[in-house]
Amino acid sequence: MFRPYALLAPFALLVSGCAGYNAPPVAVSEPAPVASQGAVSTADPRATAAGEAILAQGGSATDAAIAVMLALTVVEPQSSGIGGGGFMVLAGDDGVVTFDGRETAPAAATGARFLDEDGEPLPYTERVISGLSVGIPGNIALAAQAHERYGKVPWADLFAPAIALARDGFLMNRRLNDSLSSAAERASNTEAARAIFFGADGAPLPVGTLIKVPELAETFERIASRGPSAMYETGAEALADYVAAETPRDGRMTAADVRSYAAKERDPVCTRYRVYKICGMGPPSSGGVAVAQMLGQLERFDLAQLGPQSPQFWHLFLESQRIAYADREVYLADQDFVEVPVAGLVDPAYIAARSALIDPGAAMANAEPGVPQGAPLARADGNEPPESGTTHFSIVDAEGNAVSYTSTVEGAFGSGLHFGGFYLNNELTDFSSSPAINGVPVANRVEGGKRPRSSMAPTIVFDQDGEIILVIGAAGGPTIPVQVARSIIGVLDFGMTAEEALGLPLIMAFGSTIITEEGSSVAAMADELQALGHGELRLLSPRGKANALRRTPDGWESAGDPRVAAMLGYE
Ligand code: DON
Repeated sequence: MFRPYALLAPFALLVSGCAGYNAPPVAVSEPAPVASQGAVSTADPRATAAGEAILAQGGSATDAAIAVMLALTVVEPQSSGIGGGGFMVLAGDDGVVTFDGRETAPAAATGARFLDEDGEPLPYTERVISGLSVGIPGNIALAAQAHERYGKVPWADLFAPAIALARDGFLMNRRLNDSLSSAAERASNTEAARAIFFGADGAPLPVGTLIKVPELAETFERIASRGPSAMYETGAEALADYVAAETPRDGRMTAADVRSYAAKERDPVCTRYRVYKICGMGPPSSGGVAVAQMLGQLERFDLAQLGPQSPQFWHLFLESQRIAYADREVYLADQDFVEVPVAGLVDPAYIAARSALIDPGAAMANAEPGVPQGAPLARADGNEPPESGTTHFSIVDAEGNAVSYTSTVEGAFGSGLHFGGFYLNNELTDFSSSPAINGVPVANRVEGGKRPRSSMAPTIVFDQDGEIILVIGAAGGPTIPVQVARSIIGVLDFGMTAEEALGLPLIMAFGSTIITEEGSSVAAMADELQALGHGELRLLSPRGKANALRRTPDGWESAGDPRVAAMLGYE
């Protein structure tokens, strides 16, 4: 087993020093030498089986992750696929490596992409269900780049499980059926998709129906045999022409945009939390920084002693969220276009200063962004609604390498455009809709070739000996970093299993508005939280969709979100 601390010299600055560290280290379950063929956690058992089949062939975690990403394109089309993008965090012999397969805006895109002549946001249909929202898909480029470095099983073989699912068919489960109903406008936007998922009466095919997607099987076969060039070179024109024809105004996608797409290796964001090391995704995702800040700001509190039944814990967590998200709105965007002060934002001294804003006895009136080292003057707004267009999967292989991969089409069924048997993303709506606020350019404004800011937070946690103990991530737009930080606290501070930690309630502060889940233990704490100065709790239906692998003395615990598990049936 490799020792990532020893291999991460370049990140020593980020992980060393623990200013403000008062709480005693919390012991994890004894470090266990995990002997196994590996483990897989995904949001769908058919995708899990695809990953396990590749591991059984001697595949690496990277191989299995690619097979999972492809299988999810078939069985969970509402959430992710080769028409979208994603981020992969890998831990192996090279230490922690991250790949960015985020979609890019066409070169001709401008800051006013989503605004009408009067500067008002375009109507929803024009903005989202059209080529305007579609970024150049990145998942296949990411997969190819990761496979070139870390693949053991031949590229074409990784497509076999997904091809079988698309060609031979898969059963419609309750989740997909629900998504097809609730996001029918997008899901049924094209004739092609209606023929696959909807009956003659216009309703989604019933739960239990065998669904076949032969056109997707053919697309997979082309990419399997010819490699990513089948999408980004020989396939570039057809994809761009289709999207351009569906784009109602200037700024259309071109074949040159598709040809010039490149997945990128990025620096991981690695920080310390108590005795642990937490590694996640840097910009264009805000996920790694937000998780690091939320945890770091809470380090001085004895969370284990408070526990999840105490309103005091949730108060501290809400305050930490508000501080972290204030920074996120201002600083996080595509670092190829704007300066993002990542090192400053996760610097232990800066985090300690931000943590000092947390008053255990009262909610702060306003959480303002801070001024970390290297901060440029720019603001960003954020308006991503939590939907179901994302999926996370965690994989560990027989050699102990881990992959944490979050993949998305943004909203459920993305833009609703359906090409080659798969849905195309609407990722460009993750850009800020306004290019400037009060005359100050927004960091996350639309620009040609730029990647929209993300919240996705694929994360890997190491113990004090450098062993991987948790591989985790989530779906749910801006709630993602909160779900991930909450679940990490559940495992590390509360000593929970991964399943228990994923099952903890979601509570999140959007400015002064607080959302939580109806009927949850936190919803019952409304009076205590209000006595601490928090506003009214807005109660929402259960939401959360995280997946994780946790090291135990007996092997890997593979955990899925209990909220999702309830929806995977065929009745
Ligand atoms: O990258 C992002 O942050 C969003 N596109 C993720 C959207 C999402 O998680 C939707 N739902 N599950």
